[in-house]
Amino acid sequence: MSGHHIEVMFSEEVVDRRIQELGDRITEDYKGKQVHLVCVLKGGAFFMCELAKRIKLDVSLDFMSVSSYGSGTESSGLIKIIKDLDEPLKDKEVIVVEDIVDSGRTLSYLLRMLGDRGPKSLKLCTLLDKPDRRVTDVDVTYTGFTIPDEFVVGYGLDYDQKYRNLPYIGIVKFD
Ligand code: IMP
Ligand code: MG
Repeated sequence: MSGHHIEVMFSEEVVDRRIQELGDRITEDYKGKQVHLVCVLKGGAFFMCELAKRIKLDVSLDFMSVSSYGSGTESSGLIKIIKDLDEPLKDKEVIVVEDIVDSGRTLSYLLRMLGDRGPKSLKLCTLLDKPDRRVTDVDVTYTGFTIPDEFVVGYGLDYDQKYRNLPYIGIVKFD
């Protein structure tokens, strides 16, 4: 944990403005419908709350927690459900809300699993996307920011469980 510092990548104002734009787009795209937001804990929680406040439709929320098998920094794609959703997804307009899509392994597995539960529609909304790291194809409908291959923290994202509460997106710089 020592020997690093955080540099601002996207300030709180910039992130807020972008989430407002995403909220506006979702409000437009789902006009007349009810959206069911599924948050992948813990990273997606901060983003989901801010996004939900900016969707001017009936919104319901649910949460799940997964852990991916695999070594420290590489996810294997095989995931274990730590906490499953409380509600069924059958016939709902589901948007999975994530903090970041990296290799895409976790998400592609998760989306397949949730798709099997019969939602009316299933889309993915991520605050950040690191396409350079993609190993498994993932269909992302809503992206906050596309970023280069840097390790980022804040707005739900952690480095060893720290920095989730930063109100901005920062890059971890190793000294
Ligand atoms: P993947 O797409 O299956 O490789 O896994 C993505 C998960 O790895 C995300 O949900 C994050 O929890 C974590 N992750 C990937 N990149 C970063 C980063 O830059 N900072 C913090 N966590 C990250
Ligand atoms: Mg995550």
